[in-house]
Amino acid sequence: MPLLKKVGCYLALVILVPRLYAQSANPLTVIMNKVKLEVSLDAAGTPSYAVQYNGQQVIRTSKLGFALTDDSTFYKDFELLNTSRRSFNQTWQPVWGEVNTIREQYEELTINLRQRKAPGRLLNIVFRVFDDGVGFRYEFPVQPNLKYFVVANELTQFNLTGDHRTFWIPGDYDTNEYLYTTSQLSEIDNTHMVKTSTDIAVRTAPDPQSVQTPLMMKSTEGLYINIHEAALSNYPAMQLHVDRTGYALTSSLVPDATGNKAYLHAPGKTPWRTIIVSDKAVDILNSKTILNLNEPTSLTNTSWIKPMKFVGVWWEMQTGKATWNYSNFPDSADAAGGLIPNGTHGANTANVKRYIDFAANNGIDAVLVEGWNRGWEDWFGNWKENVFNFTTPYPDFDVREITRYAASKGVTMIMHNETSGSATDYERQLDTAFRFMNGFGYTSVKTGYVGKIIPRGEHHDGQWMVNHYERVAQKAAAHQVTIDVHEPMRPTGQHRTWPNWMASEAGRGNEYNAFSIGSPPEHETILPFTRLMGGPMDYTPGIFKMKGYAGYAPDRQMHSTLAKQLALYVTIYSPVQMAADLPENYAARPDAFQFIKDVAVDWDDTKIIEAEPGDYITIARKEKGKTSWFIGAITDENSRTATIPLTFLDKAQQYVAVIYGDAPDADWKNNPEAYKIESFLVNSATTLKLKLAPGGGAAVHLKPATASDLKQYKKYVAK
Ligand code: NOJ
Ligand code: CA
Repeated sequence: MPLLKKVGCYLALVILVPRLYAQSANPLTVIMNKVKLEVSLDAAGTPSYAVQYNGQQVIRTSKLGFALTDDSTFYKDFELLNTSRRSFNQTWQPVWGEVNTIREQYEELTINLRQRKAPGRLLNIVFRVFDDGVGFRYEFPVQPNLKYFVVANELTQFNLTGDHRTFWIPGDYDTNEYLYTTSQLSEIDNTHMVKTSTDIAVRTAPDPQSVQTPLMMKSTEGLYINIHEAALSNYPAMQLHVDRTGYALTSSLVPDATGNKAYLHAPGKTPWRTIIVSDKAVDILNSKTILNLNEPTSLTNTSWIKPMKFVGVWWEMQTGKATWNYSNFPDSADAAGGLIPNGTHGANTANVKRYIDFAANNGIDAVLVEGWNRGWEDWFGNWKENVFNFTTPYPDFDVREITRYAASKGVTMIMHNETSGSATDYERQLDTAFRFMNGFGYTSVKTGYVGKIIPRGEHHDGQWMVNHYERVAQKAAAHQVTIDVHEPMRPTGQHRTWPNWMASEAGRGNEYNAFSIGSPPEHETILPFTRLMGGPMDYTPGIFKMKGYAGYAPDRQMHSTLAKQLALYVTIYSPVQMAADLPENYAARPDAFQFIKDVAVDWDDTKIIEAEPGDYITIARKEKGKTSWFIGAITDENSRTATIPLTFLDKAQQYVAVIYGDAPDADWKNNPEAYKIESFLVNSATTLKLKLAPGGGAAVHLKPATASDLKQYKKYVAK
């Protein structure tokens, strides 16, 4: 360090220190456009923060700190040792995403605290203020009296200003697969939801006033507020306990088997707590703050990570037409000690080849096969340690022949590893499982954690499992395999760090319409404001046959029109998208299937056109490296007209708009499969007005018009 700078540094310290002590009485402020953060230490030495948006209070003064198992007061009696500030403004390119370039701009404030009482433990809090919100995290610096410690409770508060309208699911330690309830904060009580669930997930929600994040709210003053976390790693997921009269939320961490929350070492840190706020709902969906708070990836070669569309031997099991298991339970052995086939096994070589042919003939990149490996006879609900073998196919699944056949057709095979919650067993088999994938040319895997977790007493969203999912992502990256995780904790933007972790389920997917009471039409208008805030969801859209699933109750049906199923490829973001229905159901509707064939899975640009949580969403996206745009518009149970000015189109270009819309008499309940496909000429001056049926939607493919298109199609005129 040059001498002059050194002197400057000391000078700054000399001037800074007295000023800081003086400042501790007043709030320290950080401002970025409309967002203002105030940080202070109160008389008891408890750090706190408050947030304003455009002069309006969003978070009232809210306390920060912890109860550690060896010190229940690690939230008070602090003095301010130092503060530092930093401005950051750069752009970065995600490996895949909704846009090709992301601006990361924030003002940062770090406060360094020391407890006055002996032994004078240190705590830092880092705040970053973005133009759409705030992130903050706790850091535990290296120090003699805090080496290894246990978090009994995190005490972070988010004190709100009123009885906001809230879109919430119960604070469950093991699943996010709930329907959303819309209620005022004062009405939050999850007892009923946890009791009446009709599905297969494990449920552990002991606190009736707890909810999960991302928590979406619309304030009594009309502000849209989203609370979540970013960069969840080596820490449990944060849920929120709701004080229904004070409108105060408190961090409630998912415990381990003994009730402890987190085991940490100094230096150590928590994930970021995030508050995103705007007076416009579309800005919440535009936010990149959660992603920006994650670390850049350390993977140097990412060329093997490929967004893709896939079909799968899957929906036939979900709808009861075929089984995952090859034999019936209990395992029935023939004279030679082999399994006796039950005749309904979906993952047989001939059936898999049918899907490979379908993918090859339709330009679909990949085929997922579930139920290919030993273990499915007795896989669910038994809390057993060694259920699955991840390298042993069933006798009728010829892995060598399937690998050869898929390769000859240019189709990628997707591996499936269901663990039935036995994470320890999966870790024992991880190396051989990934070597098996490498050996047979599988470049991606869908994992799953149905059932109670082993190690016993751990939860899906606790620290142990958070670390497990990350270990799997890391191991997968080492083997150049991408992952799609079902039943993990919900994402927190970690795909910036692990771009091979391409999607998660961690929410109530389309499959619930097959095996449970389903999800009402508003469900998909809430997901982008909640579950999707942290990252892509493997929602499995694209169901064309809406009713009459073979093996299950005949009254089960999708809560959607067919056109809405198409729109979901645009409104539910994921770089891996399934065409979830059976090949025969697509073959029966080749004109509608054309949209699934055409739609992109990686994007240069995204425009959120209109959005209101619980009511509707319209999004336009531009295909990466290409000239096409795709639009998805969806509505809840109410019909509506989506108004879409095409101002984002290239001004010098005429386009053909292929509109896949609901037929005039369509509605999700009584006439869900009625659709209408029309093509028109449009340009950047056109405003589309698309009529959406109750529970309906519309999908649009916009592509530059050729000379013959210009002759063939009429100019679009809004009706
Ligand atoms: C639940 C997953 O969400 C589903 O996609 C999968 O088919 C089953 N588990 C079996 O692994
Ligand atoms: Ca609604």
